[in-house]
Amino acid sequence: MNKIPFSPPLINEDIENQVLDSLRSGWITSGPKVQRLENDIKKYLNVENCICVNSWTSGAMVVLKWFGIGPGDEVIIPAYTYAATALAAMNLGATVVMVDVDDNCLMDVNKLAAAITPKTKAIMPVDIAGLPVNYQKIKAVVDANSQEFTASSKAQQLFNRPLIIADAAHSFGAKNNGKLGNHDADITIYSFHAVKNLTTAEGGAICFNESLFSEPIDRQIRLHCLNGQTKDAMSKTNSGNWKYDIVLQGLKANMPDICAAIGIEQLKIYNKTLERRKEVFQQYFDFFSKCDWATPPASVVDHLESSYHLYMLRIKNATEEERDAIMTKVIANGVSVNVHFTPLPLLTFFKESGYSIEHYPNAHANFLNEISLPIYPQLTDEDVDQVCATIAAAVKEVLNLD
Ligand SMILES: Cc1ncc(COP(=O)(O)O)c(C=O)c1O
Repeated sequence: MNKIPFSPPLINEDIENQVLDSLRSGWITSGPKVQRLENDIKKYLNVENCICVNSWTSGAMVVLKWFGIGPGDEVIIPAYTYAATALAAMNLGATVVMVDVDDNCLMDVNKLAAAITPKTKAIMPVDIAGLPVNYQKIKAVVDANSQEFTASSKAQQLFNRPLIIADAAHSFGAKNNGKLGNHDADITIYSFHAVKNLTTAEGGAICFNESLFSEPIDRQIRLHCLNGQTKDAMSKTNSGNWKYDIVLQGLKANMPDICAAIGIEQLKIYNKTLERRKEVFQQYFDFFSKCDWATPPASVVDHLESSYHLYMLRIKNATEEERDAIMTKVIANGVSVNVHFTPLPLLTFFKESGYSIEHYPNAHANFLNEISLPIYPQLTDEDVDQVCATIAAAVKEVLNLD
Protein backbone atom coordinates (compact mmCIF):
# COMPACT_ATOMS: atom_id res chain seq x y z
CA MET A 1 0.00 0.00 0.00
CA ASN A 2 1.48 3.36 -1.09
CA LYS A 3 1.41 6.41 1.13
CA ILE A 4 -0.33 9.07 -0.95
CA PRO A 5 0.39 12.69 -0.01
CA PHE A 6 -2.22 15.40 -0.64
CA SER A 7 -0.46 17.84 -2.94
CA PRO A 8 3.33 17.58 -3.34
CA PRO A 9 5.01 20.13 -5.65
CA LEU A 10 6.19 18.90 -9.06
CA ILE A 11 9.97 19.49 -9.07
CA ASN A 12 12.24 18.20 -11.86
CA GLU A 13 15.87 18.69 -12.84
CA ASP A 14 15.06 21.56 -15.22
CA ILE A 15 13.45 23.47 -12.33
CA GLU A 16 16.48 22.82 -10.10
CA ASN A 17 18.82 24.06 -12.85
CA GLN A 18 16.75 27.17 -13.56
CA VAL A 19 16.80 28.07 -9.83
CA LEU A 20 20.55 27.43 -9.66
CA ASP A 21 20.99 29.66 -12.69
CA SER A 22 19.30 32.48 -10.78
CA LEU A 23 21.33 31.83 -7.62
CA ARG A 24 24.61 31.83 -9.57
CA SER A 25 23.76 34.79 -11.79
CA GLY A 26 24.37 37.45 -9.14
CA TRP A 27 20.72 38.56 -9.35
CA ILE A 28 18.08 36.87 -7.19
CA THR A 29 15.24 39.37 -6.75
CA SER A 30 12.90 40.75 -9.47
CA GLY A 31 14.78 40.84 -12.76
CA PRO A 32 15.09 38.97 -16.05
CA LYS A 33 13.43 35.77 -14.88
CA VAL A 34 10.31 37.59 -13.65
CA GLN A 35 10.15 39.43 -16.97
CA ARG A 36 10.45 36.15 -18.82
CA LEU A 37 7.75 34.46 -16.69
CA GLU A 38 5.40 37.41 -17.31
CA ASN A 39 5.99 37.13 -21.06
CA ASP A 40 5.58 33.35 -21.01
CA ILE A 41 2.30 33.63 -19.09
CA LYS A 42 1.01 36.28 -21.53
CA LYS A 43 1.76 33.95 -24.42
CA TYR A 44 0.36 30.89 -22.68
CA LEU A 45 -2.91 32.53 -21.62
CA ASN A 46 -3.08 34.77 -24.70
CA VAL A 47 -3.49 37.91 -22.54
CA GLU A 48 -2.01 41.39 -23.03
CA ASN A 49 -0.93 42.12 -19.46
CA CYS A 50 0.62 40.11 -16.66
CA ILE A 51 2.22 41.36 -13.47
CA CYS A 52 3.87 38.72 -11.30
CA VAL A 53 3.56 39.24 -7.54
CA ASN A 54 4.77 37.46 -4.41
CA SER A 55 1.34 35.98 -3.51
CA TRP A 56 -2.33 36.09 -4.51
CA THR A 57 -2.98 37.92 -1.22
CA SER A 58 -0.60 40.78 -1.90
CA GLY A 59 -1.73 40.92 -5.55
CA ALA A 60 -5.34 41.35 -4.40
CA MET A 61 -4.35 44.04 -1.90
CA VAL A 62 -2.46 45.89 -4.63
CA VAL A 63 -5.47 45.80 -6.98
CA LEU A 64 -7.95 46.87 -4.28
CA LYS A 65 -5.61 49.67 -3.15
CA TRP A 66 -5.03 50.85 -6.74
CA PHE A 67 -8.83 51.01 -7.14
CA GLY A 68 -8.94 53.26 -4.06
CA ILE A 69 -10.71 50.86 -1.70
CA GLY A 70 -10.46 51.49 2.04
CA PRO A 71 -12.51 52.20 5.19
CA GLY A 72 -16.21 52.76 4.48
CA ASP A 73 -16.13 50.68 1.28
CA GLU A 74 -17.66 47.23 0.82
CA VAL A 75 -16.19 44.25 -1.04
CA ILE A 76 -18.46 41.31 -1.85
CA ILE A 77 -17.03 37.78 -1.64
CA PRO A 78 -18.48 34.25 -1.28
CA ALA A 79 -18.74 32.80 2.25
CA TYR A 80 -17.11 29.59 0.98
CA THR A 81 -13.45 30.38 0.34
CA TYR A 82 -10.04 30.58 1.93
CA ALA A 83 -9.59 33.40 4.46
CA ALA A 84 -7.22 35.38 2.17
CA THR A 85 -10.13 36.41 -0.06
CA ALA A 86 -11.65 38.28 2.88
CA LEU A 87 -8.46 39.41 4.59
CA ALA A 88 -7.06 41.12 1.48
CA ALA A 89 -9.99 43.56 1.70
CA MET A 90 -10.23 43.73 5.50
CA ASN A 91 -6.51 44.54 5.84
CA LEU A 92 -7.16 47.69 3.79
CA GLY A 93 -9.94 48.67 6.21
CA ALA A 94 -12.79 47.72 3.86
CA THR A 95 -15.90 45.83 5.01
CA VAL A 96 -16.42 42.37 3.56
CA VAL A 97 -19.99 41.40 2.59
CA MET A 98 -20.41 37.64 2.18
CA VAL A 99 -22.80 35.93 -0.24
CA ASP A 100 -23.92 32.29 -0.05
CA VAL A 101 -22.83 29.76 -2.70
CA ASP A 102 -24.59 27.38 -5.11
CA ASP A 103 -24.26 23.58 -5.39
CA ASN A 104 -20.86 23.97 -7.10
CA CYS A 105 -19.65 26.11 -4.16
CA LEU A 106 -19.48 29.19 -6.44
CA MET A 107 -20.92 32.59 -5.44
CA ASP A 108 -24.70 32.34 -5.98
CA VAL A 109 -25.40 34.88 -8.73
CA ASN A 110 -29.07 34.96 -7.71
CA LYS A 111 -28.11 36.26 -4.26
CA LEU A 112 -25.63 38.88 -5.48
CA ALA A 113 -28.05 41.72 -6.27
CA ALA A 114 -29.31 41.86 -2.68
CA ALA A 115 -25.74 42.28 -1.40
CA ILE A 116 -24.90 45.29 -3.61
CA THR A 117 -25.22 48.69 -1.89
CA PRO A 118 -24.05 52.21 -2.80
CA LYS A 119 -20.89 51.38 -0.78
CA THR A 120 -19.98 48.32 -2.89
CA LYS A 121 -16.64 48.97 -4.61
CA ALA A 122 -15.63 45.46 -5.71
CA ILE A 123 -17.06 41.98 -6.27
CA MET A 124 -14.56 39.16 -5.85
CA PRO A 125 -16.04 35.74 -6.71
CA VAL A 126 -13.83 32.65 -6.31
CA ASP A 127 -13.19 29.98 -8.97
CA ILE A 128 -13.40 27.21 -6.37
CA ALA A 129 -11.45 24.03 -7.16
CA GLY A 130 -10.57 25.59 -10.53
CA LEU A 131 -14.15 25.76 -11.86
CA PRO A 132 -14.58 29.30 -13.19
CA VAL A 133 -17.43 31.55 -12.14
CA ASN A 134 -19.63 32.85 -14.97
CA TYR A 135 -18.34 36.45 -14.91
CA GLN A 136 -20.71 37.49 -17.71
CA LYS A 137 -23.62 36.76 -15.36
CA ILE A 138 -21.85 38.57 -12.49
CA LYS A 139 -21.29 41.59 -14.75
CA ALA A 140 -24.97 41.66 -15.78
CA VAL A 141 -26.04 41.77 -12.10
CA VAL A 142 -23.43 44.44 -11.30
CA ASP A 143 -24.51 46.60 -14.27
CA ALA A 144 -28.18 46.31 -13.28
CA ASN A 145 -27.58 47.22 -9.62
CA SER A 146 -24.85 49.87 -9.55
CA GLN A 147 -26.78 53.06 -10.40
CA GLU A 148 -25.89 54.50 -6.99
CA PHE A 149 -22.14 53.85 -7.36
CA THR A 150 -20.10 56.99 -6.65
CA ALA A 151 -16.55 57.05 -7.95
CA SER A 152 -14.09 58.23 -5.30
CA SER A 153 -10.77 57.64 -7.11
CA LYS A 154 -9.39 58.10 -10.62
CA ALA A 155 -9.45 54.34 -11.14
CA GLN A 156 -13.10 54.17 -10.05
CA GLN A 157 -13.97 56.93 -12.53
CA LEU A 158 -12.75 54.68 -15.35
CA PHE A 159 -15.43 52.11 -14.51
CA ASN A 160 -18.17 53.98 -12.72
CA ARG A 161 -19.25 50.67 -11.22
CA PRO A 162 -17.76 48.13 -8.78
CA LEU A 163 -14.62 46.35 -10.03
CA ILE A 164 -15.08 42.65 -10.85
CA ILE A 165 -12.04 40.69 -9.68
CA ALA A 166 -11.68 36.95 -10.24
CA ASP A 167 -10.13 35.14 -7.28
CA ALA A 168 -8.48 32.70 -9.66
CA ALA A 169 -6.12 31.29 -7.01
CA HIS A 170 -7.26 27.80 -8.12
CA SER A 171 -8.00 28.30 -11.80
CA PHE A 172 -4.78 28.83 -13.76
CA GLY A 173 -5.44 26.80 -16.91
CA ALA A 174 -9.25 26.89 -16.71
CA LYS A 175 -10.99 27.41 -20.05
CA ASN A 176 -13.66 29.83 -21.20
CA ASN A 177 -15.28 28.68 -24.47
CA GLY A 178 -12.33 26.34 -24.97
CA LYS A 179 -9.79 29.15 -24.53
CA LEU A 180 -7.28 29.61 -21.72
CA GLY A 181 -7.28 32.84 -19.69
CA ASN A 182 -10.27 34.46 -18.04
CA HIS A 183 -11.27 37.30 -20.31
CA ASP A 184 -14.58 38.17 -18.65
CA ALA A 185 -13.61 39.55 -15.21
CA ASP A 186 -11.99 43.02 -15.09
CA ILE A 187 -8.94 41.61 -13.32
CA THR A 188 -7.96 37.99 -12.77
CA ILE A 189 -5.56 37.14 -9.96
CA TYR A 190 -3.81 33.74 -9.84
CA SER A 191 -1.94 32.09 -6.95
CA PHE A 192 1.32 30.21 -7.49
CA HIS A 193 1.51 29.01 -3.88
CA ALA A 194 3.26 25.65 -3.33
CA VAL A 195 0.07 23.56 -3.55
CA LYS A 196 -1.33 25.25 -6.65
CA ASN A 197 -1.43 23.74 -10.18
CA LEU A 198 1.49 25.95 -11.23
CA THR A 199 3.82 27.01 -8.47
CA THR A 200 6.65 29.43 -7.79
CA ALA A 201 6.78 28.31 -4.09
CA GLU A 202 4.96 31.53 -3.16
CA GLY A 203 3.66 33.88 -5.82
CA GLY A 204 0.85 34.95 -8.06
CA ALA A 205 -0.03 36.97 -11.14
CA ILE A 206 -2.38 39.84 -11.94
CA CYS A 207 -3.86 39.69 -15.46
CA PHE A 208 -6.10 42.39 -16.91
CA ASN A 209 -9.07 42.17 -19.19
CA GLU A 210 -7.45 43.69 -22.28
CA SER A 211 -10.51 45.64 -23.35
CA LEU A 212 -10.23 47.76 -20.20
CA PHE A 213 -6.55 48.17 -19.45
CA SER A 214 -3.68 50.18 -20.85
CA GLU A 215 0.03 50.84 -20.36
CA PRO A 216 -0.51 53.68 -17.83
CA ILE A 217 -2.66 51.38 -15.68
CA ASP A 218 -0.03 48.65 -15.89
CA ARG A 219 2.56 51.21 -14.70
CA GLN A 220 0.33 52.39 -11.84
CA ILE A 221 -0.25 48.86 -10.58
CA ARG A 222 3.48 48.08 -10.83
CA LEU A 223 4.16 51.19 -8.69
CA HIS A 224 1.69 49.85 -6.11
CA CYS A 225 3.69 46.57 -6.09
CA LEU A 226 6.97 48.37 -5.32
CA ASN A 227 6.42 50.85 -2.48
CA GLY A 228 5.40 53.45 -5.07
CA GLN A 229 9.03 53.55 -6.21
CA THR A 230 9.70 54.74 -9.77
CA LYS A 231 12.64 52.38 -10.42
CA ASP A 232 13.06 48.75 -9.47
CA ALA A 233 16.29 47.47 -7.88
CA MET A 234 17.62 46.21 -11.21
CA SER A 235 17.30 49.51 -13.06
CA LYS A 236 18.74 51.38 -10.05
CA THR A 237 21.91 49.27 -10.12
CA ASN A 238 22.70 50.39 -13.67
CA SER A 239 25.48 52.95 -13.19
CA GLY A 240 24.43 56.55 -12.79
CA ASN A 241 20.82 55.52 -12.40
CA TRP A 242 20.53 55.57 -8.61
CA LYS A 243 18.01 58.42 -8.33
CA TYR A 244 14.40 57.45 -7.79
CA ASP A 245 11.19 58.91 -6.47
CA ILE A 246 8.32 57.60 -4.34
CA VAL A 247 5.12 58.77 -6.02
CA LEU A 248 2.40 56.96 -4.07
CA GLN A 249 1.83 54.95 -0.89
CA GLY A 250 2.53 51.52 -2.34
CA LEU A 251 2.77 48.01 -0.96
CA LYS A 252 5.66 45.57 -1.50
CA ALA A 253 4.45 42.72 -3.67
CA ASN A 254 7.10 42.01 -6.33
CA MET A 255 8.08 38.42 -7.16
CA PRO A 256 11.78 37.50 -6.82
CA ASP A 257 13.68 35.87 -9.72
CA ILE A 258 14.40 32.70 -7.69
CA CYS A 259 10.65 32.07 -7.52
CA ALA A 260 10.06 33.00 -11.17
CA ALA A 261 12.72 30.42 -12.12
CA ILE A 262 10.48 27.64 -10.76
CA GLY A 263 7.47 29.03 -12.64
CA ILE A 264 9.32 29.28 -15.98
CA GLU A 265 10.03 25.54 -16.01
CA GLN A 266 6.63 24.60 -14.55
CA LEU A 267 4.92 26.51 -17.33
CA LYS A 268 6.91 24.64 -20.01
CA ILE A 269 5.29 21.37 -18.91
CA TYR A 270 1.95 22.84 -17.86
CA ASN A 271 -0.09 21.41 -20.73
CA LYS A 272 1.00 17.91 -19.69
CA THR A 273 0.34 18.71 -16.02
CA LEU A 274 -3.17 19.85 -16.84
CA GLU A 275 -3.86 16.85 -19.06
CA ARG A 276 -2.85 14.43 -16.29
CA ARG A 277 -4.96 16.31 -13.73
CA LYS A 278 -7.92 15.96 -16.07
CA GLU A 279 -7.30 12.20 -16.43
CA VAL A 280 -7.18 11.77 -12.65
CA PHE A 281 -10.40 13.79 -12.32
CA GLN A 282 -12.04 11.56 -14.95
CA GLN A 283 -10.87 8.37 -13.22
CA TYR A 284 -12.41 9.61 -9.96
CA PHE A 285 -15.61 10.54 -11.81
CA ASP A 286 -15.85 7.06 -13.41
CA PHE A 287 -15.64 5.51 -9.95
CA PHE A 288 -17.70 7.87 -7.79
CA SER A 289 -20.49 8.45 -10.32
CA LYS A 290 -21.37 4.77 -9.82
CA CYS A 291 -21.58 5.12 -6.00
CA ASP A 292 -25.03 6.17 -4.86
CA TRP A 293 -23.54 7.65 -1.65
CA ALA A 294 -21.30 10.08 -3.56
CA THR A 295 -21.81 13.43 -5.27
CA PRO A 296 -18.88 13.88 -7.67
CA PRO A 297 -17.93 17.50 -8.44
CA ALA A 298 -18.59 19.14 -11.82
CA SER A 299 -15.68 20.01 -14.10
CA VAL A 300 -17.62 21.75 -16.86
CA VAL A 301 -20.52 24.20 -16.44
CA ASP A 302 -21.91 25.83 -19.60
CA HIS A 303 -18.92 27.17 -21.58
CA LEU A 304 -16.53 27.02 -18.61
CA GLU A 305 -14.05 24.21 -17.88
CA SER A 306 -12.12 23.66 -14.67
CA SER A 307 -8.34 23.67 -14.20
CA TYR A 308 -8.84 20.46 -12.16
CA HIS A 309 -7.15 21.97 -9.10
CA LEU A 310 -9.15 20.20 -6.37
CA TYR A 311 -11.39 17.14 -6.35
CA MET A 312 -14.13 18.15 -3.91
CA LEU A 313 -16.13 14.97 -3.30
CA ARG A 314 -19.34 15.15 -1.27
CA ILE A 315 -20.64 12.20 0.76
CA LYS A 316 -24.46 12.29 0.49
CA ASN A 317 -26.30 12.54 3.81
CA ALA A 318 -23.11 12.27 5.90
CA THR A 319 -23.08 14.42 9.02
CA GLU A 320 -20.01 16.47 9.90
CA GLU A 321 -19.03 13.86 12.52
CA GLU A 322 -19.42 11.02 9.99
CA ARG A 323 -17.37 12.94 7.41
CA ASP A 324 -14.63 13.48 10.00
CA ALA A 325 -14.69 9.78 10.96
CA ILE A 326 -14.38 8.79 7.27
CA MET A 327 -11.39 11.12 6.89
CA THR A 328 -9.69 9.69 10.00
CA LYS A 329 -9.97 6.16 8.58
CA VAL A 330 -8.76 7.23 5.12
CA ILE A 331 -5.74 9.07 6.56
CA ALA A 332 -4.92 6.08 8.82
CA ASN A 333 -4.83 3.98 5.65
CA GLY A 334 -2.15 6.15 4.06
CA VAL A 335 -4.24 8.49 1.88
CA SER A 336 -4.00 12.22 2.68
CA VAL A 337 -7.29 14.03 2.30
CA ASN A 338 -8.43 17.52 3.20
CA VAL A 339 -11.49 19.77 3.50
CA HIS A 340 -11.96 22.81 1.22
CA PHE A 341 -13.10 24.96 2.90
CA THR A 342 -14.41 25.68 6.36
CA PRO A 343 -16.85 28.51 5.47
CA LEU A 344 -15.48 31.78 6.81
CA PRO A 345 -18.41 32.44 9.21
CA LEU A 346 -17.47 29.25 11.12
CA LEU A 347 -13.94 30.54 11.85
CA THR A 348 -13.30 32.40 15.12
CA PHE A 349 -12.05 35.68 13.66
CA PHE A 350 -14.99 36.03 11.28
CA LYS A 351 -17.50 34.96 13.95
CA GLU A 352 -16.04 37.62 16.24
CA SER A 353 -16.29 40.11 13.35
CA GLY A 354 -20.07 39.56 13.25
CA TYR A 355 -20.58 36.97 10.48
CA SER A 356 -23.01 34.16 11.25
CA ILE A 357 -23.23 30.83 9.42
CA GLU A 358 -27.05 30.81 9.57
CA HIS A 359 -27.06 33.36 6.72
CA TYR A 360 -25.08 30.97 4.48
CA PRO A 361 -26.99 27.65 4.58
CA ASN A 362 -25.59 26.27 1.30
CA ALA A 363 -22.00 27.03 2.27
CA HIS A 364 -22.64 25.22 5.56
CA ALA A 365 -24.34 22.21 3.93
CA ASN A 366 -21.60 21.88 1.26
CA PHE A 367 -18.88 21.95 3.92
CA LEU A 368 -20.38 19.36 6.28
CA ASN A 369 -19.94 16.37 3.97
CA GLU A 370 -17.04 17.52 1.75
CA ILE A 371 -13.73 15.64 1.38
CA SER A 372 -11.00 16.82 -1.02
CA LEU A 373 -9.06 13.96 -2.63
CA PRO A 374 -5.45 14.05 -3.89
CA ILE A 375 -5.26 15.28 -7.51
CA TYR A 376 -1.91 15.99 -9.16
CA PRO A 377 0.13 14.81 -12.14
CA GLN A 378 2.50 12.51 -10.22
CA LEU A 379 -0.40 10.17 -9.26
CA THR A 380 -0.44 6.86 -11.13
CA ASP A 381 -3.66 5.08 -12.16
CA GLU A 382 -2.94 2.56 -9.37
CA ASP A 383 -2.67 5.41 -6.82
CA VAL A 384 -6.07 6.72 -7.93
CA ASP A 385 -7.59 3.23 -7.66
CA GLN A 386 -6.15 3.02 -4.15
CA VAL A 387 -7.71 6.37 -3.17
CA CYS A 388 -11.12 5.27 -4.54
CA ALA A 389 -11.01 1.91 -2.74
CA THR A 390 -9.86 3.51 0.53
CA ILE A 391 -12.63 6.13 0.44
CA ALA A 392 -15.30 3.56 -0.46
CA ALA A 393 -14.24 1.20 2.34
CA ALA A 394 -14.25 4.01 4.93
CA VAL A 395 -17.64 5.36 3.79
CA LYS A 396 -19.23 1.89 3.93
CA GLU A 397 -17.82 1.25 7.40
CA VAL A 398 -18.80 4.61 8.89
CA LEU A 399 -22.23 4.84 7.24
CA ASN A 400 -22.96 1.11 7.70
CA LEU A 401 -23.60 0.51 3.99
CA ASP A 402 -23.33 -2.93 2.31
C1 LIG B 1 -9.41 30.71 -2.92
C2 LIG B 1 -8.08 31.25 -2.49
N1 LIG B 1 -7.86 32.57 -2.57
C3 LIG B 1 -6.69 33.10 -2.20
C4 LIG B 1 -5.65 32.32 -1.74
C5 LIG B 1 -4.38 32.96 -1.29
O1 LIG B 1 -3.30 32.66 -2.14
P1 LIG B 1 -1.81 33.03 -1.71
O2 LIG B 1 -1.37 31.99 -0.72
O3 LIG B 1 -1.02 32.96 -3.01
O4 LIG B 1 -1.83 34.39 -1.14
C6 LIG B 1 -5.83 30.94 -1.64
C7 LIG B 1 -4.72 30.10 -1.15
O5 LIG B 1 -4.82 28.97 -0.82
C8 LIG B 1 -7.07 30.38 -2.01
O6 LIG B 1 -7.30 29.07 -1.90
